[in-house]
Amino acid sequence: MPVLGLGSWMLTTHTAEAVMHAFELGYRMVDTSADYKTQPGIGKAIRLSPVPRESLFVSMKVEENEDGYEATARNLQELKLAYADLVLIHRAPKSNVGEKVWRGLMRARDEGLARSIGVCSYKVSQLQALAEQTGEMPAVHQLEWSPFGHSLDMLNFCRANEIALQAYSPLTRGKRLKDERVAAIAMKYGKTPAQVFLRWDLQHGVVPLPKAYREDHQRQNIALFDFELDTGDMAVLDSLNEQFSALDKLEYL
Ligand SMILES: NC(=O)c1ccc[n+]([C@@H]2O[C@H](COP(=O)([O-])OP(=O)(O)OC[C@H]3O[C@@H](n4cnc5c(N)ncnc54)[C@H](OP(=O)(O)O)[C@@H]3O)[C@@H](O)[C@H]2O)c1
Repeated sequence: MPVLGLGSWMLTTHTAEAVMHAFELGYRMVDTSADYKTQPGIGKAIRLSPVPRESLFVSMKVEENEDGYEATARNLQELKLAYADLVLIHRAPKSNVGEKVWRGLMRARDEGLARSIGVCSYKVSQLQALAEQTGEMPAVHQLEWSPFGHSLDMLNFCRANEIALQAYSPLTRGKRLKDERVAAIAMKYGKTPAQVFLRWDLQHGVVPLPKAYREDHQRQNIALFDFELDTGDMAVLDSLNEQFSALDKLEYL
C-alpha cells in the first residue's frame, strides 16, 4: 500500500479531472465509497490516466448491513474495475462485529475481486472479536486520526497485530489547522500546518488520506518527503491529543 492516499469524500466536482491531476502529481492511492458518489469519476480517472492500473491502489467500502460480496461486485461495476486493492467494512454494525459482511469480503478476496480487506472505525475489542469469530485480523484499519484525536493504545494494538493504519480526516477537515502550536512547528520547517499533520502520520507509520480538490492543496499534501520532524516536535504533536473528532466522535474509543 502506498504511504499516502487521496481522500474523495466531497470530491464531487470534476472528480475525474481532480483525481487525474493527483495521479500526475504522484499520488498512487485513492479512497472512495459508494455513498461519496465519486466512484464513477475515479473509475474514469483510472481509465484515462497514463499510470497503469497495477501501479494504482484503490480502496473502497461496503456498508455494514450489506452483503459484502455483492456490494463489492456492485461497487466495482460502478468503478468499471476488475478488482479493488482494498475493500473495507465502513463501520461496525450496531449489534455485532460484522462477521457476516466480513465473510462476504473474504469470498470477494478469494475470488479475486479484492486484493486485501479491512475495516473502519472499530474498537480494539471489536477487532479482537472479529478475529476470534473469523480466524483473521483485518489487513487495514481506517479510522479518524490526527494530532488532536488519536489513540496510542490503538496504534500499539495495530502494530502488534500487523494491521496497517489509515488515517481519515487527517487534516481535521480544516478545524484544527490554525492551532498556534502547530503553526510554530510549521514555521520552523518552512512547511504548512497541513504538511506537519501529514508528516506526523508518516513518522508514526500511519497512512494519511487527505482529501484535496484544490491544486495547491494536492501539491502541498504530497510534498512531505523533504523534511523530518524531530523527536521534540513529534512529542509536542502527540501531546495535542484531545480526542477531537471532526465527525463529532472518535468511534474507535
Ligand atoms: N472510513 C470512513 O468512515 C471515513 C470517514 C471520513 C472520511 N473518510 C476518508 O478520508 C478522507 C479524508 O477525510 P475528510 O475528507 O473527512 O477530511 P480532511 O482530509 O481532514 O480535510 C479535507 C479538507 O481539508 C482541505 N485541505 C486539503 N489540503 C489542505 C491543505 N494543504 N491546507 C489547507 N486545507 C486543506 C480540503 O480542501 P479542498 O478540498 O478545497 O482542497 C478539504 O476542505 C475522505 O475524503 C474519505 O476518503 C473515511
